[in-house]
Amino acid sequence: MDFSSLVTTRQSVRRYSAKPVEPEKIEQLIEAVRLAPSASNSQPWHLIMVTDPELKNQVAHATYSSLVSFNKFAPQAPVLAVLVLEKPKLITQIGGRLKARDFPLIDIGIAAEHFCLQAAELGLGTCMLGWFDEPKVQHLLNIPQNRRIGLLITLGYSQEAAPPRPKNRKSQEEMSSFNKY
Ligand SMILES: Cc1cc2nc3c(=O)[nH]c(=O)nc-3n(C[C@H](O)[C@H](O)[C@H](O)COP(=O)(O)O)c2cc1C
Repeated sequence: MDFSSLVTTRQSVRRYSAKPVEPEKIEQLIEAVRLAPSASNSQPWHLIMVTDPELKNQVAHATYSSLVSFNKFAPQAPVLAVLVLEKPKLITQIGGRLKARDFPLIDIGIAAEHFCLQAAELGLGTCMLGWFDEPKVQHLLNIPQNRRIGLLITLGYSQEAAPPRPKNRKSQEEMSSFNKY
C-alpha cells in the first residue's frame, strides 16, 4: 500500500473478529514502534503487547464503566497494546523544562501512529484509547506507579464494513495556512 492509501485506509476500528493476530505481525508492529523518531532519540516508551486472553480482557474492562461506556468494544479485540511513558534522556528533560514542552507525550503519539499505520498495512484494525483506569491497568500489568501510561491501542481483524468510512475532518482552509497563522 502506498502512503496516501495507508493514510486514508487507517481508521479507528471498533468491531473486531475473534481471529487471532499472527505472531509475525505482532513482531512487525513492535518493530514499527521501535523505529519511531523521538526528541533527542530518547525513545521514551515501553510497549506491552497484551496477548494473554484473560489478562487482555481484564485490561480491556479497565477502559470503560457503566458511566463512561464508549470503549465497551475493547474486549472484542484479541490484542491490546499499552504504551508506557519512560523517562527521556537528561538533555530532553532539560530541554523540555526550558521550553515548557512535553516531548515524551509528542514522541508517544508518533510511536502510536507508527503502530496504527503498520497495522493498517498488515490488514489489521486498531483504535487508540486515551480513556482508561490508569491505576487499574498499572496494577494488572505490573507497571510501576511512577510510570504514566500514554495510550492503549486495540488490535485485531476488523469486522467493519469495507470500504473505509469517509473521513470527518476540518477543511484544509480551516486547518492550514500559508506564511501566517
Ligand atoms: C490520543 C487519542 C485518544 C483516543 N481515545 C479514544 C478512546 O478512548 N476511545 C475511542 O473509541 N477512540 C479514541 N480515539 C480515536 C479517535 O476518536 C479517532 O481517531 C478520531 O475520531 C478520528 O477517527 P478515525 O481514527 O477513524 O480516523 C483516540 C484517538 C487519539 C489520537
